[in-house]
Amino acid sequence: MIELVNVEKTYFSKAGDIHALHKTNLSIKAGEIFGIIGLSGAGKSTLVRCINMLEKPTAGKVFVDGAELTAMNDAQLRKARQSIGMIFQHFNLLTSRTVYDNIAFPLEIQGLGKAEIDKRIRPLLELVQLETRADYYPSQLSGGQKQRVGIARALASNPKVLLCDEATSALDPQTTKSILELLQDINKKLNLTIVLITHQMEVVKTICDRVAVIENGDIIEEGSMVDVFTNPQHPTTKEFTKSVINAEIPEMVKNKNLSATYKEGSKLIVRLSFIGDSAGEPIVSGMVKRFDVDVSILYGNIDQLKDVPFGTLIIEINGTEGGIKNALEYLHQQNLKTEVIGYES
Ligand SMILES: Nc1ncnc2c1ncn2[C@@H]1O[C@H](COP(=O)(O)OP(=O)(O)OP(=O)(O)O)[C@@H](O)[C@H]1O
Ligand SMILES: [Mg+2]
Repeated sequence: MIELVNVEKTYFSKAGDIHALHKTNLSIKAGEIFGIIGLSGAGKSTLVRCINMLEKPTAGKVFVDGAELTAMNDAQLRKARQSIGMIFQHFNLLTSRTVYDNIAFPLEIQGLGKAEIDKRIRPLLELVQLETRADYYPSQLSGGQKQRVGIARALASNPKVLLCDEATSALDPQTTKSILELLQDINKKLNLTIVLITHQMEVVKTICDRVAVIENGDIIEEGSMVDVFTNPQHPTTKEFTKSVINAEIPEMVKNKNLSATYKEGSKLIVRLSFIGDSAGEPIVSGMVKRFDVDVSILYGNIDQLKDVPFGTLIIEINGTEGGIKNALEYLHQQNLKTEVIGYES
């Protein structure tokens, strides 16, 4: 649905040129929710603004829904932009217009008549649950309600793509949750492709299918959200994901007196991680049945990555050296990730 081919963006200024985006290639599929994460100044906003050509790329090509935006004249571009909606951190509503008139604004610009505009707006008000607020002014609304107006306005011209630049960053956690539910709802109902920039990992973890990490104008990591969150490669990605994934070994385990090798009577501590339907417990009980070992659970946690469960179990295996070795081999053969933390004597 969205294709960036060797897109570059340089801001030229007297104080010096800023290369905000280096050669960037990105492919976003129809109907997916794609997250873009990165530190402040990494180039996230530049990247999404290149998708709807609010910023003209210095080099490269941008395709949306099969059409090359970078080859269009202004009139063609205005038309193409109708299929790309955008919402913002600070909502960007017109303060002198009511909720209804804010949503109507892009349709008025398109030259639609009153009756047709009304026909479009009524179901949108219902979709964003603002039927009773149509005549309110933005100053009379909460942050969440303002963003709902922003979403309805963005959807007014029946776009195929919705770009969200930090759309929940100014909202409290409860309101963020309701906006994310709304975004997921319209993603499904309207088969809308959503590109979402955020520095909130919780947001990515809740709704994104795939994710790209951007740093200093380069995409440094990209993949399915579950893969990137459970197996981050780049140090920056590890830093981002550790705030929402319990990748750290708990203190009470770390504080144990651990060694790398078996000594008479020592117990092996391992961490098991499982994604999706493969669960930890049956594997542990299978191991206990097969080998002459005892197991105690030191720590357990189940996380939810969009709709995929991600579990972590830290166990202590007690037995003979041979028993522990066989048990570990058995774990390595299972459909889960097994990490040896150390031997406790
Ligand atoms: N209009 C502009 N003129 C000059 N430089 C700009 C302009 N817009 C952005 N930049 C620079 O480009 C780089 C990338 O900025 P961008 O706004 O894309 O980052 P960002 O990842 O969205 O950051 P934030 O999380 O703070 O919103 C920064 O160094 C920024 O200073
Ligand atoms: Mg930004």
